Amino acid sequence: MSSGTASSPVKLRPEILALPAYRQGQAAPSGFKLSSNENPFDPLPGVLEAVDAATRTLHRYPNAAAPEVTARIAAEWGVEPDEVILAAGSVALLVQLTLAAAGPGDEVVYSWRSFEVYPWMTVLPSAVKVAVPNTPDHRHDLDAMAAAITERTRLVLVCTPNNPTSAIVTAAEFESFMQKVPADVLVILDEAYAEFVTDPTAVNGRTLVRRYPNLVILRTFSKAYGLAGLRIGYGIGPAEVFAAARIAAMPLSLTDHAQVAAIASLDRGDELRARVADIAARRDAIYDFLVEQGWTTIPRPHGNFVWYPTGEHTERALGIFRDHGIIARAYLPDGVRLTIGEEESVENVLAASAQIMREIA
Ligand SMILES: Cc1ncc(COP(=O)(O)O)c(C=O)c1O
Repeated sequence: MSSGTASSPVKLRPEILALPAYRQGQAAPSGFKLSSNENPFDPLPGVLEAVDAATRTLHRYPNAAAPEVTARIAAEWGVEPDEVILAAGSVALLVQLTLAAAGPGDEVVYSWRSFEVYPWMTVLPSAVKVAVPNTPDHRHDLDAMAAAITERTRLVLVCTPNNPTSAIVTAAEFESFMQKVPADVLVILDEAYAEFVTDPTAVNGRTLVRRYPNLVILRTFSKAYGLAGLRIGYGIGPAEVFAAARIAAMPLSLTDHAQVAAIASLDRGDELRARVADIAARRDAIYDFLVEQGWTTIPRPHGNFVWYPTGEHTERALGIFRDHGIIARAYLPDGVRLTIGEEESVENVLAASAQIMREIA
């Protein structure tokens, strides 16, 4: 008898078939798409021109070594170019680092709920998921994560601000956590939303450069820089780890367009900071209104998104947002994540939030 599946003519890996496919935030046919933690602003000045110029060489493969943007990021972080790794989105780096560090039966420790890619990328090499529940206030339980590390652990993920709960890990918590992690276990500090953080107690990878030989810091141009559609992210960390991660890369997937767009964006630091400050201020104002509405369970948000722990009422909450022209993202059965979008969306967000509060209180 064939061991192919009912729907496939060929034998496939059961652990892959058991995984849900990555679900993108829903598009909004009308209204506001606040389901993918995207940036509401257009690309920074100079980006479209740089990308346009790069289209002249579309018939050529990209320069996979990305020397200019690598040198630029290395200079900004005060490291050597081989301590920088680039890829088509930091999600590609997450996969590469996992493939480089963890094989069948090895363990990958992460907080849950967190970025939905973590369990997925753990299964690809047949590694074992060790999901440590968040604290009741939706933060990483770093003590429990440290206690979950065993002889088989190859990778530990710390996501701050945590997607989707928007909670941070503090610098003091992270330092004390790193003391407990064996020096030969890779730790990834996933800081996709770092630019939006205003809390001075938060951990910041910038202060940790070369501090730990087992630490990789991940950043992305998708969120604060608004280049989600072009796909470019980077890591800062040990050259030896990156040499292995480069071997696990999908060749030639980082385009020249993404590279020139990243450089053009880095040239516009002041405008970037102004936009990020705008979004962070809108986030804080929304949070204050939510608290006034009676939302005491929402953790103070630090990324460009807010977490509504609506539990069993999550589908209803999503529907109420939809009725108000807002596409949010549901994480069943835990809650709803809502991205901070354009100024014009705020009124609808607050009206929907008030109704959800009234209906589920
Ligand atoms: C926590 C976290 N890490 C990494 C990423 C990946 O971002 P990208 O691949 O666009 O760089 C995301 C995107 O949503 C994220 O939320």
